[in-house]
Amino acid sequence: MRILSGIQPSGKLHIGNYFGMMRPALELAQKGEAFYFIADYHALTSISNPEELRANVLDVALDFLACGLDPARSVFYRQSDVPQVTELSWILSGVTPVPMLANAHSYKDKIAQGLKPNAGLFTYPVLMAADILIVQGERVPVGKDQKQHVEMTRDIAGAFNRQFGNVFTIPEADIKPEVATLPGIDGRKMSKSYGNIVEIFGDEKATRKKVMSIVTDSQPVEAPKVDLDRNIPLQFYQLVATADKAGELRAKLAAGGFGYGEAKRELFAALMDYFAPFRKKREELAGNLDYVHEVLRKGAERANSVADETMAKVRLAVGLR
Ligand code: ADP
Ligand code: TRP
Repeated sequence: MRILSGIQPSGKLHIGNYFGMMRPALELAQKGEAFYFIADYHALTSISNPEELRANVLDVALDFLACGLDPARSVFYRQSDVPQVTELSWILSGVTPVPMLANAHSYKDKIAQGLKPNAGLFTYPVLMAADILIVQGERVPVGKDQKQHVEMTRDIAGAFNRQFGNVFTIPEADIKPEVATLPGIDGRKMSKSYGNIVEIFGDEKATRKKVMSIVTDSQPVEAPKVDLDRNIPLQFYQLVATADKAGELRAKLAAGGFGYGEAKRELFAALMDYFAPFRKKREELAGNLDYVHEVLRKGAERANSVADETMAKVRLAVGLR
């Protein structure tokens, strides 16, 4: 089974990225050949500073490897090392209806946030379809916000296959319901663009501050807390603590006399513990950048050979050869 997913180097990675996409992707990688890449072409739609883009790409490479991506098992590469995707993207744009793109939530959201509606932002889902289809990805582990993009990929692949013959495997999104949309510290979806994130590798002091400012309802300390399924500190705690520990915290909150401030302090400690081994690994990797570049080079080599195979079929199918 071919598995593929990508992550944009558009800012610091956060625990929503980790629990929503990276952890499920790392689990899924056990079940087939996984292709995970750093979507630097995509990031160009929102980043115009070259230094920033370069730095972010390296950060994402370090983050993903530190979080457990095993380059001996999975193919890890930088999107722009496989420039064939831009060719495929162009070819796919010929079978992509404009109204479908105009309907994309992410496009509408980005425009609503004040980004200029450039053509790259508009055709973003076509490039994403090319990423997936060029390796004939079957499963695509992502958070819920990417569901519509994967559905568009299915539509684009289907349209291509009907028009030019069966070239592409139709992919499927792989979304874990319990972490499909992790909330941010303000209760909206955690997102780089909302400034409501808890970074995976943020420094300790800043992380504590973020955790202590997570929104909660206003039930007083002494009250037995109700509505705990909507409690964000508890929700996060369940992701980073053992089931027993999570049960204990829930019981303390439900009993009353235990405030959200204390719950957040426990969450902060559990969060630091959970990511401690990854932090250590990240420091080691940061001291050995040659290794990191070598991983990406080897990943690019493998991704290129798969991409070349697909492109030979595509060019033949459409008449470019
Ligand atoms: P952001 O919204 O912060 O810019 P990206 O769009 O770069 O994040 O997302 C990278 C991956 O992480 C995608 O698969 C996305 O679905 C997932 N993801 C992002 N935010 C969340 C979240 N709050 N909950 C679950 N998954 C998320
Ligand atoms: N659009 C995805 C995001 O913002 C990143 C991405 C680009 C991607 N190409 C992809 C994800 C292909 C899955 C498959 O998170």
